[in-house]
Amino acid sequence: MPLDNFQRQIDYLRISLTDVCNLRCVYCMPEKMAFRRPAELLSDAELFRLIPLFARLGFRKIRFTGGEPTLRDGLVDMVRLAAGLPEIGQIGLTTNGLLLDQLARPLAEAGLTTVNVSIDSLDPKRFREITRWGNLRDVLAGLEAAEAAGLRVKLNAVPTRGINDSEDVIELARFTLTRDWQVRFIELMPFGNNAGFQTGHIVRESELRARLEAEYGKLELLHGGRLDGEARLYRLPGGRGSVGFISPVSSPFCAGCNRVRLTADGRLRLCLLRDDECDLRELLRGGADDDRLEARIRAAIRGKPWGHELDKARIPVSREMSEIGG
Ligand code: GTP
Ligand code: 5AD
Ligand code: SF4
Repeated sequence: MPLDNFQRQIDYLRISLTDVCNLRCVYCMPEKMAFRRPAELLSDAELFRLIPLFARLGFRKIRFTGGEPTLRDGLVDMVRLAAGLPEIGQIGLTTNGLLLDQLARPLAEAGLTTVNVSIDSLDPKRFREITRWGNLRDVLAGLEAAEAAGLRVKLNAVPTRGINDSEDVIELARFTLTRDWQVRFIELMPFGNNAGFQTGHIVRESELRARLEAEYGKLELLHGGRLDGEARLYRLPGGRGSVGFISPVSSPFCAGCNRVRLTADGRLRLCLLRDDECDLRELLRGGADDDRLEARIRAAIRGKPWGHELDKARIPVSREMSEIGG
């Protein structure tokens, strides 16, 4: 299993399949967003070569992200390929859910195990305002389809000050009273051109917890406060599912980081919030053999930065969040 210079085991690969999205969430991208040309993205064949190579290197978990990964034609085949690799135990997808209604079943049949759906409001009007043109009903249909297909479901919401940080947080958490879902609230992170908006609209975890406790009563801390992935979990009184907080800014979890990211244009990005990357596309297109690729990947992982430096006002500038997929 690849180790970095801080002795962290890196076995979780997040693969962005496209930078394109069918929404334009206000905290994520401008309405008129310029996307990469298709030739810049890794092809299906290139991904089909890289995924088994990462499995051989010791990776055990793969998550497909975007932009919006369901917009990539080869997604179901990609999941099937990953599921066929004995080393890979978990395959996840992070999606806005708009197309899940049709895709949940084929994805589950291909071997997908979990789906994380982004949903920032349960009010149709506000949902549209946040996403600029999304239809909440499509996402709700997608969630039902995911559950019916037997996929484990988590919801991701990004509370944004003055937009969806009160009523929406309460209503999203309410799902966990009746459903065995994990509803996670993610702290807004500053990125590239949108950093001004993001920094100005951040809502801290402590504020959200207080709001939930005022509505539902005392939250029960789960697993003694140990993180589940990057989320600290709680249960609402009498709840079935759990409410999680992912707070990279106020409670960094870099010490336990086990992940690297492959961007849609073929760079291995070593930390979400640092710009250090290793260009695998250049190696692939330059005819590198597997040994050379493996050596470069191992060396890049050894040099993974410790973590973000947001407290020193060091913000990632080379990419937007939508190109990395979280
Ligand atoms: P699970 O497999 O369910 O644990 O999925 P996940 O939480 O790893 O994936 P998901 O795409 O749902 O991640 C949720 C969000 O958490 C991401 O979109 C990011 O915003 C944030 N996040 C995930 N990993 C990291 C990380 O390594 N660093 C930081 N700063 N944020 C992260
Ligand atoms: N900070 C935190 N989370 C973000 N997401 C998108 N942009 C940001 C940001 N700047 C979330 C999406 C989705 C996941 C992939 O990342 O809402 O749930
Ligand atoms: Fe698209 Fe996700 Fe960004 Fe929203 S947050 S615009 S759904 S990539």
